[in-house]
Amino acid sequence: MYLDTHGVMLRQFSFRSSLLPFSSHSQRSFLKSASSTHPRIGATMATISTQNESTQKPVQVAKRLEKFKTTIFTQMSTLAVKHGAINLGQGFPNFDGPDFVKEAAIQAIRDGKNQYARGHGLPQLNSAVAARFREDTGLVVDPEKEVTVTSGCTEAIAATMLGLINPGDEVILFAPFYDSYEATLSMAGAKVKGITLRPPDFSVPLEELKAAVSNKTRAILLNTPHNPTGKMFTREELETIASLCIENDVLVFSDEVYDKLAFEMDHISIASLPGMYERTVTMNSLGKTFSLTGWKIGWAIAPTHLTWGIRQAHSYLTFATSTPMQSAAIAALKAPESYFKELKRDYNAKKEILVKGLKEVGFEVFPSSGTYFVVVDHTPFGLENDVAFCEYLIKEVGVVAIPTSVFYLNPEEGKNLVRFTFCKDEETLRSAVERMKLKLKRIV
Ligand SMILES: Cc1ncc(COP(=O)(O)O)c(C=O)c1O
Repeated sequence: MYLDTHGVMLRQFSFRSSLLPFSSHSQRSFLKSASSTHPRIGATMATISTQNESTQKPVQVAKRLEKFKTTIFTQMSTLAVKHGAINLGQGFPNFDGPDFVKEAAIQAIRDGKNQYARGHGLPQLNSAVAARFREDTGLVVDPEKEVTVTSGCTEAIAATMLGLINPGDEVILFAPFYDSYEATLSMAGAKVKGITLRPPDFSVPLEELKAAVSNKTRAILLNTPHNPTGKMFTREELETIASLCIENDVLVFSDEVYDKLAFEMDHISIASLPGMYERTVTMNSLGKTFSLTGWKIGWAIAPTHLTWGIRQAHSYLTFATSTPMQSAAIAALKAPESYFKELKRDYNAKKEILVKGLKEVGFEVFPSSGTYFVVVDHTPFGLENDVAFCEYLIKEVGVVAIPTSVFYLNPEEGKNLVRFTFCKDEETLRSAVERMKLKLKRIV
């Protein structure tokens, strides 16, 4: 058990089997004992009680959030600590961000840049975001009217949904998806339609998408490079999405937090396609690119008429974002090209270690073109579903992965897949692979 920030005791799911020998038989027994209880991990893994069990009261939550429980990332990271497992689950680097950015933050604090910032961002940061966007996409945007600085991309997502979506509006998203999308769409009262991307290449089923888009569709939400699969949307896919949006007057919300981790092809911002800027919100942040996920500096770039709604929501969500960190973000975004090249080179090396290792362990590994994630098929190890597999992996092997069923509207669709991250130092990745080689045995 541990206390959350509100003093509520969270009891994570308990493993019902005691320590098991590491054999394929034990994998099967484990499966029987653990998996039957967890048809949907997000809905079942945490039980919550007050500090005093004798005065236990049912927890309360508004209807729009009642289907969402403790996020899988919190659950898995907590379990990782509890079991001394190597955390290849949550996507935060176990190494630090660059000194020149950290120094800029320290300097800003020393210089007294510690009071509320302007609501939509420090002017110099808005300019730095616009300059980088121009360098990356060729698009010239007005930093004062078309850039909104937010508390991480997560807030950009929430401000976009809450500022531009009305209750009952239809929004299409691609499953699997980053978990905050469904929750923020639920807060906005949207009607969610899912299009599933399937292995091995997770390509967009274009005919299915065409059938799904109509003049009732308000927006399509996309994420490229894509968490959790590592898929990058191809030019053909983006062009099809663009023409459907133009034809049906649909907006696009494009989450591009992994744009600098594009390995196999060039990243394309859908806003840069003809006719798309005026209907696109491009969302991004500092966290992944600068290994500073705890800083939560993000932004939304959109034409003035869409920025209005985003800023209205942002004003009443957080109003403004940390002043000294915004100051440091200015320095970050001015990093020389060599920084981005080196980042990619480092991540490529890490990816190679993990992908090669996972193949040697016996997984079917699906190709990942971008992000710092890779998705595998766990079924050769005989566990019934992704949740059972991840439970086994943490407790019996000492490695954390993320079950992907939590990323789907229909969890069944993700039950064969789990996600590993390689945003860890090379030694950690090698140790995780060694543990898996030692203790995981294929049974099929
Ligand atoms: C696809 C995607 N979007 C947004 C975020 C959140 O970004 P931030 O930390 O800037 O809020 C994440 C973090 O994991 C992510 O994977």
